[in-house]
Amino acid sequence: MIHLRGSGLDVVVDLAHGTPTIVHWGAPVDDPDAVVAMLERTLVHGSPDLIAPVSVVPEHAGGFAGRPGLLGRRRRGRRWTPRFERVDHHVDGSRLVAVADDPVAGLRLTTTIDVADCLVIAIELTNTSATDRYLLDGLTVTLPVAEHLDELLTFTGRWTREFHPERAPWPHGAVTAENRRGRTSHETPSLLFAGRAGFGEWHGEVIGAHLAWSGNHSWLADRLADGRRYLQLGELFHPGECSLEPGESYRTPEVVAVWSADGLTAATQRFHRRLRARPEHPASPRPVLVNTWEAVYFDHDLDTLRDLADRAARVGAERFVLDDGWFGSRRDDTSGLGDWIVSPDAHPDGLAPLIEHVTGLGMEFGIWVEPEMVNPDSDLFRAHPDWVLTTDGYEPPLGRNQLVLDLARDDAFDHVLRQLDALLRDHDIAFVKWDMNRDHIGGSGADGAAGTHAQTLAVYRLLDELRRRHPDVEIESCSSGGARIDHEILRRTDRVWTSDCNDALERQTIQRGASMLIPPELMGAHIGPPRAHTTGRRHGLAFRSATALFGHLGIEWDLRSLDDAELDAIAEVVALHRRLRPLLHGGDVVRFDTEPAFVAHGVYATDRSEGIVSFARVATSPGLTPPPLRLPGLDPERHYRVEHVALPRERPGPNRTAPAWWSDGLTATGRDLATVGLQLPALHPESAVLLHLQRVD
Ligand code: DGJ
Repeated sequence: MIHLRGSGLDVVVDLAHGTPTIVHWGAPVDDPDAVVAMLERTLVHGSPDLIAPVSVVPEHAGGFAGRPGLLGRRRRGRRWTPRFERVDHHVDGSRLVAVADDPVAGLRLTTTIDVADCLVIAIELTNTSATDRYLLDGLTVTLPVAEHLDELLTFTGRWTREFHPERAPWPHGAVTAENRRGRTSHETPSLLFAGRAGFGEWHGEVIGAHLAWSGNHSWLADRLADGRRYLQLGELFHPGECSLEPGESYRTPEVVAVWSADGLTAATQRFHRRLRARPEHPASPRPVLVNTWEAVYFDHDLDTLRDLADRAARVGAERFVLDDGWFGSRRDDTSGLGDWIVSPDAHPDGLAPLIEHVTGLGMEFGIWVEPEMVNPDSDLFRAHPDWVLTTDGYEPPLGRNQLVLDLARDDAFDHVLRQLDALLRDHDIAFVKWDMNRDHIGGSGADGAAGTHAQTLAVYRLLDELRRRHPDVEIESCSSGGARIDHEILRRTDRVWTSDCNDALERQTIQRGASMLIPPELMGAHIGPPRAHTTGRRHGLAFRSATALFGHLGIEWDLRSLDDAELDAIAEVVALHRRLRPLLHGGDVVRFDTEPAFVAHGVYATDRSEGIVSFARVATSPGLTPPPLRLPGLDPERHYRVEHVALPRERPGPNRTAPAWWSDGLTATGRDLATVGLQLPALHPESAVLLHLQRVD
């Protein structure tokens, strides 16, 4: 029996069987042996004469009736149901490594369980046969879940509508999601939670699990006939996609799991802490940026871009990002992808005049690329039509007029690396927006087998090599907005583009969902134009600002259309963000439960000395005024000064009077703020207000 104690949770692992079995994880326990005895199950009628453990790799041959953790076979379908015997294990601080063998099937499993910050599990499978290939159909990590955690929170999405929550009772039988899009996906983020029915942001036990992987994946939440629950997460292989030659190994992506006794906010802060503990986590203040996409799209013209840059500097931006359209024949989205050479049509004198202008204004320069893709109408494709993921004998379907470049091929990989390396070497570029806009559909590698697994690893390698050569360049993970947001891509990127939707109303939900996985300093959030390009809705500057302020702030709007007063208003928002930035990007994200017509969230300083809270009305509601906003999680014994932070162009709601504290501020204890709450004025739908909290004793 192994008892691992982490900063956030305890884990009890039983090694009596072949593969390790997590008997308990979550709440700290005193006596692991007693825990095992307490949870011993009985044989019941109507089931096999043994109780198969829900191990990290449950075994069909061991009597497990759910989905086995390892699916695979040797020639002619043999050795399809392995059984492992324990070989060895060692514990090193918070980490357990356990080895198990199946000498009959010729397989070895090495499981790593680490609880340093979150519960992190990865499993390696090795083909120990000296002669035979092993065809691997799936290796997933299985996590048992306590039976009282009976409600699921999962996410759905699509382009411009990422991270939408769905809650449902956890049924008997399985709920599953499968992602075959070759990227983390808008549709099926690899993130789910389970909690005691009715759990909220600050109450109810809850666990969460995330698969740190940027390719195909599946997750499963299953309840067995005997009542036991488990989650299973792992990479999803196409038929025949993964095989192991003698001596070869496959390692699963990491499953990162969190636990909290008191609701979602505390659980999700664990994900943030893990990311913030990475050595590569951005340490410098996150530069406010201006991105050219919704301002000019493909219409690149030096004078226009210089004008935009002047205005970016005027409002206090610190980085200017030139989006799609600067290279090859890329005058629209039908051609040019793959040719990472500055276009003489769009930029006759190269990028230097623009870059010098931008850096002369005191801003960094950033640039857009989409290195995994190629348009059939490109010099690259004309020269190397065989460098793409397609399936022999079939016409490849296009997505946004493009195909996927097979980066698992050394020649294609080296070519792209050389071009990107030259781009970064020859220009003063501080930031790369790395986009990926096409699902993998029917993509085979050079050997004719499905190519998504190899491609995902090749993308990681390409990013790693580029970072090694250009360690000071920051990279953003973009994929048609937020289709590639996961902890593995974040090992090699410094920001994600959360969504192509800059509509503040939609963003309230999208960012709330994304905040359950990533902290605000990594979450790209832009102030768009008054009329959102992707929805056609109109919002005032205050609502758009209050929404974007809580991420890595950017502006994506044709600033040339603004007069001086409007530019001053944006400059005020940027200044406010920069003033609050250490708190916003270093504190603990807090979300609050309120009525469905409102979205309330904020950031508290880790020592609870300060906080900033946003309260938004996203719809009308039966009550004329919002319910008092309760702010749990502050220091109950201390007093806080609460002040309304007025945003430029904030419009008063339908109020005939305002509470006195709205103009003068108010002082209250953390306890009273948590239990009684603050009565806010009425708000118009699609508006938000900000509150600043300062501890005063
Ligand atoms: C998709 C991205 O999400 C957008 O922000 C923009 O960069 C376009 N691609 C450019 O083609």
